[in-house]
Formats: sequence, structure tokens, C-alpha cells
Amino acid sequence: MLFSPACERNQQPIRELLRQWLPPGARVLEIGSGSGQHAIFFAKALAGLDWQPSERREALNDLAERIALEGRSGLAVAARVAEPFELDVDQAEHWPSNDFDALFSANTCHIMAAGSVANLIAGAAKGLKPGGLLLLYGPFRDEGIPMAASNAAFDAHLRSLDPGMGLRDAQEIGRWAQEQGFTAMADQPMPAQNRCLIFRLA
Ligand SMILES: C[S@@+](CC[C@H](N)C(=O)[O-])C[C@H]1O[C@@H](n2cnc3c(N)ncnc32)[C@H](O)[C@@H]1O
Repeated sequence: MLFSPACERNQQPIRELLRQWLPPGARVLEIGSGSGQHAIFFAKALAGLDWQPSERREALNDLAERIALEGRSGLAVAARVAEPFELDVDQAEHWPSNDFDALFSANTCHIMAAGSVANLIAGAAKGLKPGGLLLLYGPFRDEGIPMAASNAAFDAHLRSLDPGMGLRDAQEIGRWAQEQGFTAMADQPMPAQNRCLIFRLA
């Protein structure tokens, strides 16, 4: 089964952040769920959580395998992990309408091309209920400020693999979010030079 050591390291601090920000019984759409470890870990801890994992077509089988194996028992009271569905942020027709209280995505913005991140934010504006939260976790950069050494090395590594990948500028993400009707709520520092950018839809 697909396994992410990064999820193992970051899942506890992210869980505490979600505990703080999500309304009780929140219906959450996750973009780029990968191994599904986050979905399971959060649904084991947060009562009433209704978590919808999603992935691109090529990664959907790996995700579905974990959800089928671990997503049906041992969850917190009234929590649920739904059957994963296909969602490529660049495919406008994949996006649901106005269904979700929150959208969460971890470690995807630096993997996607910049245009796809903008599409993610536009899709979030469509998929969230009014007042819904957008939470983007991962390493980000800041306009005009040198990156921490570990993030600079990671950014260079990503760009050497594919010039379209790389750490995204938090200010640029903020502008895209504002254009889609979001208000910036928090830029929460997380362990190992990561952050969670949190926005609320009007
Ligand atoms: C580094 S992995 C992160 C997976 C998981 N969220 C985690 O934290 O371990 C990046 C994920 O982004 C997904 N991804 C990349 N491009 C995407 C797109 N256009 N639409 C949706 N997901 C995408 C990949 O399939 C991959 O699962």
C-alpha cells in the first residue's frame, strides 16, 4: 500500500490545526489525497468529521485501496471517510458545487504547476459553501524574502525535476484567493518550515 513518511511526520500538528479551525461535523473535501493516510488519521480523531478524499485518475487506485482497508472501522464517533472520487483541479467538470464546509490540501501546491494552484483556488470557491474554509498546508515562499535553507534546497530539487514545480509564493496565493472571494484568516507556522494558509470564502 502507498505510504508517505511525510504524512507520518506532519499528521499530528495538522490534526490539531483542524481541531481548532473546522466547525463540528464539518464536511471536508481533500485535494490530492495521495496515500489516504491523512484522511484516515483525521477521521480517527475528530468526531463527526465527514471527509471526502480525491485524487487524479492515475493515483485514485492507490488511494482507494487504503480507504477500503482502513476507512470503515476504528473511526471517531460519527466520523466518515467517503469513497474517494476523481478530481483533477484542472478539470472544471470534476469540481462539485457548494457542498463542502472546508477544502484541505497538503503538499500539493509545489507539485502542481502555478496555473493549477490558481485552478484549485477557483475550484474551491465553487465547491465550498458560503463561509467555507480553504486550508493549504505545505512549504511556501514569500516575495522578496530568502527561503530557509531546507526549503531553498527542496525548491531547487523540485525545479530540477520539472521547471513547472516549485514552492509557491504565499502572497501570490493570497491574491488568487482574494480574486475568488476569499479573505485571508491565518498563515499558521507548522513544524519543519511548513505553513498552513487559511482563507474563508465570503
Ligand atoms: C506530494 S503528493 C501529496 C499527497 C498527500 N496530500 C500528502 O500530503 O501526502 C502531491 C499530490 O498532488 C496530486 N496532484 C498533482 N497534480 C494534481 C492535480 N492537477 N489535481 C489534483 N491533484 C493533483 C498528486 O496526485 C499527489 O497525490
